[in-house]
Amino acid sequence: MSRVLFILAVVATVATVISAQCAATDNVNCASWVKNGFCNNPGYTEAYRQQYCPNSCTNSGCGAAGATTTTAATPAKENANCPKWNEDPTNAFCASQSAANIKTFCFTTCAKEITPVDGCAFYVDTAGKVVRTGANKTAANDDTVVPTLATATNKILYAYAKTGCTVAFYAAATSPATPPGLAPDLVGAGTITKVTVAAQQTAAGITCKCTA
Ligand SMILES: *[C@@H]1O[C@H](CO)[C@@H](O)[C@H](O)[C@H]1NC(C)=O
Repeated sequence: MSRVLFILAVVATVATVISAQCAATDNVNCASWVKNGFCNNPGYTEAYRQQYCPNSCTNSGCGAAGATTTTAATPAKENANCPKWNEDPTNAFCASQSAANIKTFCFTTCAKEITPVDGCAFYVDTAGKVVRTGANKTAANDDTVVPTLATATNKILYAYAKTGCTVAFYAAATSPATPPGLAPDLVGAGTITKVTVAAQQTAAGITCKCTA
């Protein structure tokens, strides 16, 4: 019993010390100090930033306190595990998680999913690591096949088509594509779609046709 109380007391003390370093509000002069380089001036210690501009200095180490009073929108973070999560075929983080999750937790690793620049993309399990390949074909009648290098063991897990683009899957990676492809085509809606048709998972090539 006394031991539990002791531990609680220690925890409470530590918590008090941490919050005591970070002032609840910024000094009224913070805006102008920050403009003059206060936050990044090596002459000022972190303790100074925590005492005077805990919210305005993003490097104050005061964490969430800063996010509440500044204009911070979604606190975008890059978890150190993102690259590992994203190459895991059972997770493939950027392709399989919600838009909110990839933005909140892996905004750097998932940059291509957050702001898509490619007309189409596909994700292949390449010897246990997920590899994303983007493809651009601007002409609606472009039937150049992009090789996927997918096989029975290295399957296509996901595919993406921007609105206005269509991904079609082919058994061979030879151009021009010879219709019909391996149905159904993925008609672009700007979302990443799990490839569930077995023949498509091992498709050797895709085409990406875009109207715009
Ligand atoms: C597709 O086109 C966009 C815009 O021009 C470009 O940023 C992107 O890198 C291209 N993607 C590929 C895979 O070539």
